[in-house]
Amino acid sequence: MSNESLSKRDLARIWHPCSQMNEYLFGRLPLIPIKKGEGVWLYDHDGNRYLDAISSWWVNLFGHGEPRIAEAIAKQARELEHCVFAGYTHEQAIRLAENITRIAPKGLDRVFFADNGSSAIEVALKMAFHYFANRGEDRPLIISLANSYHGETLGALAAGDVALYKKIYSPLLIQTLQAKSPALCDESEAIDDMRRLFERQGGKICAAIVEPLVQCAGDMAMYGADYLKALRLLCDEFGVLLIADEIAVGFGRTGTMFACEQADISPDLMALSKGLTGGFLPLSLVLTSDEIYEAFRLDDYGEKTFLHSHSYSGNPIACAAANATLDIFANRDILGENDKKARRIAARLSKIAKRDRVAGVRQKGMIAAFDIAGVQYSRDLTIRLTREAIKRGVLLRPLGKTVYVMPPYAIEANEIDFLFNAIEDILDLL
Ligand SMILES: Cc1ncc(COP(=O)(O)O)c(C=O)c1O
Repeated sequence: MSNESLSKRDLARIWHPCSQMNEYLFGRLPLIPIKKGEGVWLYDHDGNRYLDAISSWWVNLFGHGEPRIAEAIAKQARELEHCVFAGYTHEQAIRLAENITRIAPKGLDRVFFADNGSSAIEVALKMAFHYFANRGEDRPLIISLANSYHGETLGALAAGDVALYKKIYSPLLIQTLQAKSPALCDESEAIDDMRRLFERQGGKICAAIVEPLVQCAGDMAMYGADYLKALRLLCDEFGVLLIADEIAVGFGRTGTMFACEQADISPDLMALSKGLTGGFLPLSLVLTSDEIYEAFRLDDYGEKTFLHSHSYSGNPIACAAANATLDIFANRDILGENDKKARRIAARLSKIAKRDRVAGVRQKGMIAAFDIAGVQYSRDLTIRLTREAIKRGVLLRPLGKTVYVMPPYAIEANEIDFLFNAIEDILDLL
């Protein structure tokens, strides 16, 4: 099968995520059928290869086809593919809950399973609201940051603030409030704004939700750990729960296992997904404290109970992939190896930073970004950047005029150079 025949068959039937289908149908962007993945590379059906500079939407950790995860999945699939997770349990979920609570910020000792990032956010938001309801407090308000992104289901979308994804659905969304983003203004100004909202809304706020350190879908906007420290204190002062959405930044992306570690804080709830399974299978978790868990044990099977479920909650195969992922972290100094790689990325970035067409160079660990400057932004620019990257064997998905890289940790020094040489070539065209 060739690329052409497969993409034709695809376009006859499939509706792709986060895509204006016309761009493929009228050939403005190619739709590339992938046959195989290995390390940082994806191979198409015509034999071309692409360096996956975005870890396939930030899920892949150790490279495509990582054999230890593949084997764990195959073994588990032969033994127990799935079983209902209410009234029944299994070893993979138990091991995962033990493993993850061991490495999570302290106090997060309870694990609730869901099956994708947005669903974990729904769980966290519902838990926060319900926790107060169980204590007799009506706190329907959720506060998030301007420019934040928490997923596409209606609750997650309501908590987010990227107009492109959210605005049209406004009539369907629960009311939330956004405080200034520390990534887009002075951090002390941002915390003052959060304080103002807390003061004005009195006891109506159940939770503040943030993406620690990097607002990934918000053009990779970055901020410092001090803001998180100050936010933790503020939440404590006002009795508001702090939700850390580490779905994109967890598992070492920002240099530490979890971004919250850099601020030395523990959130009340933490959502994890994406890299949790090394990028192999959908799975998500919400970690929380025993105190929150206990507030749901106050009655019999009724309103005070958390009656949230997904059919595939705690899927054994996905849990096996997650356990294999955590075993790799336990057996290798991944963060130490990444530190060296991040330095090489930093060196290449600093070269790029000198260019006229480049502004806002930023990096946290294995996430690096810059903005295209001095050209009028239009969708055409994003398409052009994407196409030029493809021509050079690189899978990039610029966010508007923000170009970023978040590669699999398998990336080698020569592959970092390959990636940045391609980016420099593309910048030469602008
Ligand atoms: C910070 C953050 N939260 C939530 C989500 C939603 O995860 P999912 O796409 O698995 O629903 C994403 C996805 O990009 C994300 O970056």
